[in-house]
Amino acid sequence: MNEPKALIRPDRGEDAIAIHLVNKDSLEAFAKGLTAGQRASLAAQKFEGGGYQYAIIPDGDSWFVVSGVANPDSLSSWCLAKLADELPEGVYRVANAEAGPAMFGWITGQYRFSRYKSEDKAHGPRVLLTAQVGQIDGYTAEAQAECLVRDMVNAPPEDMGPAALEAECERLAKAHKAELTVVRGDALEQGYPMVHAVGRAAARHHAPRLMHLVWGDPAHPVLAVVGKGVCFDSGGLNIKPGSGMRLMKKDMGGAAHAIALAGLIMGARLKVRLHLLVPAVENAISGGAFRPGDVLASRKGLTVEIDNTDAEGRLILGDALTRASEENPDLIVDFATLTGAARVALGPDLPALFARRDETAEAFLAAGKAHDDTGWRLPLHEAYREYLVSDVADMANSAANPFAGASVAGLFLDRFVGEGIDWVHYDTFAWSPAPKPGRARGGRGLGLRASWHAIRGRYA
Ligand code: BES
Ligand code: ZN
Ligand code: ZN
Repeated sequence: MNEPKALIRPDRGEDAIAIHLVNKDSLEAFAKGLTAGQRASLAAQKFEGGGYQYAIIPDGDSWFVVSGVANPDSLSSWCLAKLADELPEGVYRVANAEAGPAMFGWITGQYRFSRYKSEDKAHGPRVLLTAQVGQIDGYTAEAQAECLVRDMVNAPPEDMGPAALEAECERLAKAHKAELTVVRGDALEQGYPMVHAVGRAAARHHAPRLMHLVWGDPAHPVLAVVGKGVCFDSGGLNIKPGSGMRLMKKDMGGAAHAIALAGLIMGARLKVRLHLLVPAVENAISGGAFRPGDVLASRKGLTVEIDNTDAEGRLILGDALTRASEENPDLIVDFATLTGAARVALGPDLPALFARRDETAEAFLAAGKAHDDTGWRLPLHEAYREYLVSDVADMANSAANPFAGASVAGLFLDRFVGEGIDWVHYDTFAWSPAPKPGRARGGRGLGLRASWHAIRGRYA
């Protein structure tokens, strides 16, 4: 895609094409200031001031844009995203409003995943000038984080295996002078038995590992960020049907969220001691694969009977959450494309949020609402813990019934989070199934901006 850095620039009064924002109420007054020819052009383009509608209006030997928005005084993240995608390459400014939150959509609206297209159809940058100079870096950083999630999720699984997740962590560590430890091989088998068990069937070049990045002043409160890095989820021996497997390259979406969030946190130099933990595996099938009926050891010491090898995300997260808990964290936040059940309950737009503490849940939900990244809380209902009882081990990895699958997965994770620790778990989709302005079909951050703003509010 176009480098996000250059897409929003300070307005120094240079020549730019004007974008006039109107809605159905203000259209008539706006049209009064136009020439008869321009009004005819508006009408010919059937412009009525609805959201995402726009018209290009001739003006002498140049032209300007009229764009419909719900409320010109309170812009959404996405209101300029369609323009940013469809207008010709050039330099623009909003003539009658401050772009504010729409800067995010201006950048993400230009996102394309064209790395694997032989013919590079990327068109040139559409640059937005703004007088809100102090806001450019913040929105650009958020949009860059969003585009990183998309790029990682959209990458084909052969090219976004555990080694590629390691490379992303390496890049992050270099950029922010953080310390990165990668645990693999025997050390992984000893220290993170469930990560090893899930990942051990993969080909050598996709060998399982755990990335642990540490950054910041040790005197600051510990914030742990954890992401599910299942680089491809075939289901394992409980193999998924073709339709269910088709999108499973995105099963490292949680890791992508965690990595992008860590980048925002370090970039803003928040007053935290950050621990980023990314367990990375491919849930593959081979003679060495873990099986239904196997009993796994875990870092925590609990034994886990495998009921279903397709419930693998909670296994690798269990060990990573145990490790995170060892740091006496002030807060743990994890992201995972954990259950189909969360999608059945909430659809593709709403990430499910689980939290131990009501105040923390509310802070994350409010931050999401304020930044066009709404989530929905689901319960960690105590009574469902019994669904994970095993006849032979301390617990099972999935239930024998189909009830409340997202909550049951959350309750599984809860067993591995240290007692009393403030914890937020996002069961996210990381995918946009149908294109909408600013949200191309493919990888998508869901819960990224909400958690970023909640964390920024907590530690700024
Ligand atoms: N990665 C999937 C969950 C998933 C599926 C997320 C589809 C988004 C879309 C996960 O590893 C999984 O397969 N979960 C199982 C759990 C079940 C076996 C208890 C599921 O949700 O069906
Ligand atoms: Zn699975
Ligand atoms: Zn999975």
